[in-house]
Amino acid sequence: MSRRGNARRASDAGQRPHRHTHGNAAVQHPGRSAGPARYYAQFPAGLSALVTASLEADVQAKLEFSDDSSAMFTSETSVRAIADLPYLKNVFHVLYDVPRRNLASALESFSAALAEGRLQLPREANGRPFRLMAHIDGQLAPLPKPARTHLENAIGRAARARVEARGLGEEYWIVGRRDLDRFLLARRGPKMTSKTRVPAGSLAPEVSDLLIRMSEPSKGDRFLDPFGGSHALARARSRYPAASIITSDTVLSRDADPGDLPRQVVVRCEDARQLPSIEDGSVTTIVTDPPWGEYESVDDLRKFLVATFASFARVLNPRGSRVVVLMNRRGVGLLLDVAQEAGFQVVASHDILVNGHPATATLLRPAPA
Ligand SMILES: C[S@@+](CC[C@H](N)C(=O)[O-])C[C@H]1O[C@@H](n2cnc3c(N)ncnc32)[C@H](O)[C@@H]1O
Repeated sequence: MSRRGNARRASDAGQRPHRHTHGNAAVQHPGRSAGPARYYAQFPAGLSALVTASLEADVQAKLEFSDDSSAMFTSETSVRAIADLPYLKNVFHVLYDVPRRNLASALESFSAALAEGRLQLPREANGRPFRLMAHIDGQLAPLPKPARTHLENAIGRAARARVEARGLGEEYWIVGRRDLDRFLLARRGPKMTSKTRVPAGSLAPEVSDLLIRMSEPSKGDRFLDPFGGSHALARARSRYPAASIITSDTVLSRDADPGDLPRQVVVRCEDARQLPSIEDGSVTTIVTDPPWGEYESVDDLRKFLVATFASFARVLNPRGSRVVVLMNRRGVGLLLDVAQEAGFQVVASHDILVNGHPATATLLRPAPA
């Protein structure tokens, strides 16, 4: 997959109804009558194709820009509902944008737009303390003074609010991306609590959801994660209809509180190389994150994977079944050798970052006989 930015900008006549000489005011903000809003969202690196296709399908997003880990789009859907999409990490409502030149002049342009009424802040922000931050080319960035103070004053006047540096109120962000020719002024969307509780060693909810999406979930699926850990993948799978969901591990983690798992999810304690309770051909979908032989010690990774794929071949229905496996980048060559020897073929593969570690997610199917 290309790691280059994919600038898909709308024409003036299309998605830019409020284009201005000095910058672009956002279209109407969510919550007010009808009309689309403009969003900027971040997601796990490497899964852009999957995320943008999901946004188009789920919230009828019209994409303006996407790169390896972010996208800008318009949608009629509210900011709360967008922030609740399980595969997005941070969601921002884009208020305004200006051509990308230098940062100080961008801040002054935003201040002028506020002072002249070309940019209005959402009503919900009124009276709410705020802070101003910048994320430029993937890094937190300092904002140059005095342009920063001018913009804080302009926001303060427009929202009748004061600066609150600890981040307990509203957050306005200046966003720049290497492949985007604009600087954005955006208001951070709500932080959804469903996305914050992740035990150490567990996959983040956004990554889990995207791995599940790779498996093309459908309601007849009999799903299995045989290396369940904290059962993050079973939890993510339970957001979509399924005939059955099983998660299993040799060690039942204290972090996987069965009380917090949906009732449909069945927890087992079995070795993935044997899976004694699972009948031959009874599973349609495996999505799993086996030990990488990096953090957990595995004596002989090849031997371990050979036994694992033999077990998968036994429990999977030979017709129409899917396997999604996450493996560290170093181990993926070995994994694919073993999978192919066991009769699977590669359908798709995405290089991603898992907590900063290079990994590859691969979709496999049993090869036709
Ligand atoms: C990388 S972790 C999975 C983490 C999980 N995806 C999560 O989000 O919590 C690999 C898991 O495989 C389990 N495991 C190791 N060997 C196993 C085996 N032979 N059979 C089943 N589970 C095993 C470990 O206990 C560990 O929980």
